[in-house]
Amino acid sequence: PDRYAVIGHPIAHSKSPFIHDLFAQATGQDMTYEAIDGGAAPGGFERAVQAFRAAGGRGLNVTLPFKLAALQLADEASADARLAGAANTLIFEGAHARAHNTDGIGLVRDIEHNLGTPLAGRRVLLLGAGGATRGVLLPIARAGAARIFIANRTADKAHALARELAPHLGGVALAGGGLDALAGAGAFDVVVNATSASLSGQAPAVPPSAFAPGALAYDMVYGQGLTPFLAAARAAGCARVADGLGMLVEQAAESFALWRGVRPDTRAVLARLAVPLD
Ligand code: ATR
Repeated sequence: PDRYAVIGHPIAHSKSPFIHDLFAQATGQDMTYEAIDGGAAPGGFERAVQAFRAAGGRGLNVTLPFKLAALQLADEASADARLAGAANTLIFEGAHARAHNTDGIGLVRDIEHNLGTPLAGRRVLLLGAGGATRGVLLPIARAGAARIFIANRTADKAHALARELAPHLGGVALAGGGLDALAGAGAFDVVVNATSASLSGQAPAVPPSAFAPGALAYDMVYGQGLTPFLAAARAAGCARVADGLGMLVEQAAESFALWRGVRPDTRAVLARLAVPLD
């Protein structure tokens, strides 16, 4: 069988082996998928990747905190990975390593296919200006969003990210500002929390006026139940809320398709993992 793995630190609770094992069964692929702890020591990630390749490994998923290092060690990178400044997928062909980033397309697929919200012509609000936002901007623009606004607690970071990436989004209107600018920024059809606030039980302050009638509120984290952001969205009258579990499964399916040339059906896997938000 061909060998694949996910590498991160920590990695024990990763759902990726479970997801990819189900994909492999469903598509009849002869492969194994394991979890590798890259450790905290400097150079540990690179050594672990080298050992995996030496043992015949064909591809890796890469998770925190190694996504930047993964891009750096590749010989070639997709546009999504380059603009994200990070890679979550590596493909090894002999001595050649290719980097991809399937996080953004995973988010887009979840929003469009699983949640029934085509992004073409939609106004999208991204909360946060860190790696999570950077990683999804190009795929959201490619999906045809009418307008993207990045709102961040630290306004300067949102301005800088918008300025840097605007020229690469094929003419999609991109602007950035502080959370306080949201009061005058109009309404959005899709509001994505790409901050790490949920992990500390907090939420970025979003005024109710930011949610258009029928808007979708999406939190990229998963396994946290109804996060403070999603609860606030509901309180603001937003009936459609989702967490990032679907994004996790869809980014996995995109990686699987890059490696194996076959895209697994994600519905059965999502059904196995889904937990009601409340
Ligand atoms: P990641 O790579 O996950 O995006 P990051 O680069 O550390 O992580 O960025 C975290 C993002 O979450 C930032 O946009 C951060 O806002 P600041 O730039 O102002 O620090 C945002 N964030 C974290 N905790 C937050 C909170 N409690 N409220 C609002 N925004 C928060």
